[in-house]
Amino acid sequence: METMWAGRFEKPISELTNDFNASILIDGRMFEEDIRGSMAHAAMLGAQGIIAKEEADKLIGGLEGILSDMKSGALQIDESAEDIHMFVEAELTKRLGETGKRLHTARSRNDQVALDNRLYVKKEIAAVKDKLQTLLSVLKEMAKDNVETVMPGYTHLQRAQPVTFAHHLLAYAAMFMRDCDRLDDVYKRADVLPLGSCALAGTTHPIDRFAVAESLGFSEVCFNSMDGVSDRDFMLEFAAALSIAMMHLSRLSEEVVLWCSWEFKFLELDDAFATGSSIMPQKKNPDISELVRGKTGRVYGNLVALLTMMKGLPLAYNKDMQEDKENLFDSVDTVKTCLAITAEMLRTATVLKDNMLAAGKKGFINATDVADYLVKKGEAFRSAYKITGQLVAEAIAKNATLEELPLKEYQKYSPLFKEDIYGAIDLKNCVEKRTSFGGPAKDSVLAQIERVEEFLKGKK
Ligand code: ARG
Repeated sequence: METMWAGRFEKPISELTNDFNASILIDGRMFEEDIRGSMAHAAMLGAQGIIAKEEADKLIGGLEGILSDMKSGALQIDESAEDIHMFVEAELTKRLGETGKRLHTARSRNDQVALDNRLYVKKEIAAVKDKLQTLLSVLKEMAKDNVETVMPGYTHLQRAQPVTFAHHLLAYAAMFMRDCDRLDDVYKRADVLPLGSCALAGTTHPIDRFAVAESLGFSEVCFNSMDGVSDRDFMLEFAAALSIAMMHLSRLSEEVVLWCSWEFKFLELDDAFATGSSIMPQKKNPDISELVRGKTGRVYGNLVALLTMMKGLPLAYNKDMQEDKENLFDSVDTVKTCLAITAEMLRTATVLKDNMLAAGKKGFINATDVADYLVKKGEAFRSAYKITGQLVAEAIAKNATLEELPLKEYQKYSPLFKEDIYGAIDLKNCVEKRTSFGGPAKDSVLAQIERVEEFLKGKK
């Protein structure tokens, strides 16, 4: 096989080296980014008089033809090519002859691959955000239906204080909103044109990097050519943002797994989003959530692989960096799939509101409200806390709830208790009175829902 660099070499490349060196099976995915980048480059070469205008037009026409043939399937990627850049250039030269050989003027694969990566990251940030927004609107709709669905809020997975299911879901909405914001931030760093850095040291040709940036939709041009070809921060940041989003998904998944258990029974998944067992006829398993939880490991792994690959690399381009794509592509694919399936699974699930309320009735989640009742009647919080602890112990001994203890019992511990204690510890009231900003009271939750709505409007 004749390589591009055969002039310098006496022997052909061994098949082993070729296979080991090649990245076409991975970077073939970026064919559109590669071709669009080349079109902008060719146009700039023509406009600057670096090549003749007619030749630039021929290059652009040839590249357009390759792009449409690849999209239609008329042209298949040649898997024996080294990478997508070599493949497109070779195909162009096949189609245009000598003119095709002018495309790579004032360019290197080093700045070319950096450009493709950035175009890909910018495109995929938008795609991931789109999926995040779909999940956010599902969470928001579920929240709307559950503003009055009382459930126990947990700390240490122990029933703690009363909240509503809406409030609980909106905590996840807050996480996924931050994920969108984080991606916007990553976008800013990806939105810098590396093309024109060439191999590492720029070029003696009178290129116009700003025109290329403008035609490809980049807001900035990287200001150092050595950094331009060797910076992969934007990929690391994207992988990190995806890891954080996956961590959020994994926490939500864990809750879904718990909620689907007979121990909780807060949620019934639609049959289309659950699986059975090959031996146990009664089983309905939350496999989707378990898989999302499990796939979080590979997304974290991809981030660590990328960080490790970049660690200690001297300037500027090193072939190690060819390993930048496979991990990131996997994270992008994984997170997009997990977001989409989680949204559908939740959208079609049934919320078992009565079970949530029933769980709230056990576990003394209104104990803090007993203490707060005494505080409002003048008792110091620490003393009120102690009295309430004694009441809880008494209730446990009697196998009763706080609502079931007679007033006489209450008054044994404090004369401040009056008949109105029962209203104060009614779970619905306990939630309704938590009107502090960001709390679970209905008005506060409606304000949170509005915030999600505003966020989604602003993002579309
Ligand atoms: N396939 C390479 C990559 O993905 C393209 C850049 C190759 N540059 C080089 N000088 N070998 O990184």
